[in-house]
Amino acid sequence: MSGDRRTVAGGKELPPATAVNQFPSEAVRRILVAMAGTVAASHFVGRAAELHRLHAAFESTRVGDPVTLCVAGEAGVGKTRLVTRFADQIRQAGGLVLIGGCIELGEGSLPYSPLIQALRGLSRGLDSADLADLVGPDRALLARVLPELDPADGAAEPNSASMIMSASSQGRLFEAFLGLLERLAERSPMVLVIEDLHWADRSTLDLLTFLVRNLRVALLVILTYRTDDLHRRHPVRPFLAELDRSERVDRLDVDRFDRDEIAQLLQGSVGGSPAADLVEQIFRRSGGNAFLAEELFAAVRERNASPNLPPSLENVLLSRVQVLPEDTQATLHIVAAASGPVEHQLLARSATFPSPNCLLRCAARSPTRCSFPIPTPRRTPSDTR
Ligand SMILES: Nc1ncnc2c1ncn2[C@@H]1O[C@H](COP(=O)(O)OP(=O)(O)OP(=O)(O)O)[C@@H](O)[C@H]1O
Ligand SMILES: [Mg+2]
Repeated sequence: MSGDRRTVAGGKELPPATAVNQFPSEAVRRILVAMAGTVAASHFVGRAAELHRLHAAFESTRVGDPVTLCVAGEAGVGKTRLVTRFADQIRQAGGLVLIGGCIELGEGSLPYSPLIQALRGLSRGLDSADLADLVGPDRALLARVLPELDPADGAAEPNSASMIMSASSQGRLFEAFLGLLERLAERSPMVLVIEDLHWADRSTLDLLTFLVRNLRVALLVILTYRTDDLHRRHPVRPFLAELDRSERVDRLDVDRFDRDEIAQLLQGSVGGSPAADLVEQIFRRSGGNAFLAEELFAAVRERNASPNLPPSLENVLLSRVQVLPEDTQATLHIVAAASGPVEHQLLARSATFPSPNCLLRCAARSPTRCSFPIPTPRRTPSDTR
């Protein structure tokens, strides 16, 4: 859900609940859970329609229709899990999947880093003639951003200095990236995944714009991003608006789980059918968000008798609230005290806090109602400020 979340959940998976439950000692079971770092279900839940869309998009590229699919959804809803599942299926069927991610580093991040990450390791297993063939005539230029392509300097790390280049060199570099991806896609069916576009830097967005416009081979490009991070002036918005105008770009929205899916998510960790009231509690408090559901369940499992949220989850949630404008934070204090979505009209009547701007921001998300994901009757964001 955020940089914090990586250390909380870390993407690791719990050994299947049945495996954990074979250990009679509660202490051992707790250690196994702690080692896994999360109670993430080891089994995959739902998303049949979304996987179908991904496979259909992949098939379109294979009949000569290059496609880019933007996988959009709120933080923690399950974008990475969905795309990883799809990537596994493609790899099992013999396809090539390259994955790179944007990271929340702000200034100082290396240009093109998601693409570089995706292409790293490319030279492994290729002899020098084959590599030269694949990389093409602009090898020296590409090696400035991907040093492993330079036989003399293969161990070097890319650095900012090597990437400072004139506009014409940058144009050639984009062409070189395009040529490399096209030659790769000619060798085997291929998917390029760039994750977390909401953190992309300018250079990555420029390169992606160029690639999406110019790719002419059987290559499916998947771009994931958080819808709730894209505030009005977010630099990714114009990029997405530009993509939207292309017929070759489609969007796949990943929604929250329904109650049954949350039950299935918990099932993997409980090792059987979870109790109906547990499912109800987790579903209500998480609103169907997979990450929140897992973290809340972890808290319940650890017999966290306190009505408060576990600190890990509290930090993640508060870091998202604290960057909001003051009036929105004030409004959230009220919304958080309600045990579910609040109608805008009621909210407008209930206090003097919601300014027209704030209500507009709420309305942009949902036309009629406003909700805070973890309604906690005894604790609101204001308690922790
Ligand atoms: N379909 C699913 N089946 C089982 N577990 C899932 C599923 N979708 C998500 N999860 C679990 O929920 C958690 C959050 O999912 P994921 O990391 O994919 O979210 P995300 O949308 O990529 O979040 P972020 O915006 O932070 O990157 C993970 O622990 C993941 O394993
Ligand atoms: Mg993700």
